Amino acid sequence: MAKKIKEQVQPFTWSYAPALESKDHIQLKQQYELFINGRFVKPNSGKYFDTINPSTEQVIAKVADANPKDVDSAMMAAKNAYDKTWSKISAKERGKYIFRIARIIQERAREFAVIESIDGGKPIRESRDIDIPLAANHFFYYAGWADKLQYAFPNQQIKPHGVAAQIIPWNFPLLMAAWKIAPALATGNTVVLKPAETTPLTAMKLAEVMQEADLPPGVVNIISGQKATGAAMVQHPIPNKIAFTGSTAVGKWIQNEIAGTDKKLSLELGGKGANIIFADAALDQAIEGIINGIFFNQGHVCCAGSRLFVQESVADIVVKKLKQRMETLIIGDPLDKQTDIGAINSKVQLDKINHYIKLGIKEEASMYQSSCALPSKGFFCKPTLFMHTSQSHRIVQEEIFGPVLAIQTFRTIEEVIEKANNIPYGLSAGVWTDKGSKIFNLTQKLKAGVVWANTFNKFDPASPFGGYKESGFGREGGVHGLAAYLQQF
Ligand code: NAI
Ligand code: MG
Repeated sequence: MAKKIKEQVQPFTWSYAPALESKDHIQLKQQYELFINGRFVKPNSGKYFDTINPSTEQVIAKVADANPKDVDSAMMAAKNAYDKTWSKISAKERGKYIFRIARIIQERAREFAVIESIDGGKPIRESRDIDIPLAANHFFYYAGWADKLQYAFPNQQIKPHGVAAQIIPWNFPLLMAAWKIAPALATGNTVVLKPAETTPLTAMKLAEVMQEADLPPGVVNIISGQKATGAAMVQHPIPNKIAFTGSTAVGKWIQNEIAGTDKKLSLELGGKGANIIFADAALDQAIEGIINGIFFNQGHVCCAGSRLFVQESVADIVVKKLKQRMETLIIGDPLDKQTDIGAINSKVQLDKINHYIKLGIKEEASMYQSSCALPSKGFFCKPTLFMHTSQSHRIVQEEIFGPVLAIQTFRTIEEVIEKANNIPYGLSAGVWTDKGSKIFNLTQKLKAGVVWANTFNKFDPASPFGGYKESGFGREGGVHGLAAYLQQF
């Protein structure tokens, strides 16, 4: 039988008055169309689906469901724009458009932040301070590269792929759109982008930004839709490049589907990041990093630090401090500025997380959940720890994509490297220690695309991001991110 840890942790002793972010300044329509060739057009399918607010379960708007004919129109528009305008204008002009997009996002940042939190469930503090500024920064960063590509690839001939089909997930909706669109435009490609079905609204607002920036029609096309829309994009003959972020299963399907074609592919898939704490680490700082690593954005982060390895001599104190900190986390309305943990993105995802929590209990790991009360409506999940886990536990091996942390202990560096690498994924890791030599030793040996040292979940447009093994291939961000959108000779 699984035992719930009864140990007393300090209760959370005071409550804060709500500090709700205003919604007065946002503009939302009741229905969103497809953005094709610079205009909002009704879907050929005639179909729409609802996007809901996961913290209230209320419908926010209807969005068009693009069918293969709509996909075809968007691809034709992108090809036409590539042939007739985007490949003809100077790189400097391209850069100016991208700068303009960045500036408009900045100007409308508050509106974007609120809509992101309403549509996806993430706390306003995160969408306001992380997602939206980073999205603008990606456009700024790549705008700067547009007319300097030859410096990034000296002595090489480079050429855009042409049309890029881009499919993005729901965990960082605007930010993922920026990661995809900014480098594609800077390198001279045109784009058809599909947002995820549960979070299409900021992408459709981004389409408004494209109009406001006066981007030539067809350079960026944004089409909402579901799985079938994504599949039709992959199967369409026009795109020469496919960029996908999402589940490993769909990534594998795409790879299979385009095998034998000359389409280029970059995949950013799942993860099961290891956060490693050595006994010599600044423990309080590490606790904050672990909390951020797994509870940030409800754990809907491919590079989340969902596995924790603690050196045995400090394991008890670390677990105690973690529980204490978990008790102080505020779970609730994503639009409340006090909220640390917002809503789980969808009912499907909440069911998946709860399934794994039950599995952890069944696998006889010891569970601890924060004692907070959850809102009665909406999709919410308590921050959860599992102790006494081992490498063979499914909660240790599989991506849960929720606020669930699996803890293991270790004694030696060799042991922790072996354990940390012993999973199908290789996206992220974190190392907490006072010793620079240990950091350098581990960063060389951990099979992860990004290794943070004494911090976690830090992003910058100038640093490349991407994975090994089943976490995918190709890099986004930095100079590497340009390469994904260029043919090099
Ligand atoms: P998903 O991979 O099905 O969805 C991601 C995007 O791909 C969405 O826009 C979706 O419409 C599209 N899509 C789905 N099937 C497609 C297909 N056959 N061809 C082309 N596009 C397709 O992910 P889902 O179902 O939303 O989440 C399932 C799990 O995937 C999560 O629990 C999590 O473990 C993982 N995930 C990982 C993400 C990451 O950032 N690496 C992001 C989202 C989910
Ligand atoms: Mg939604």
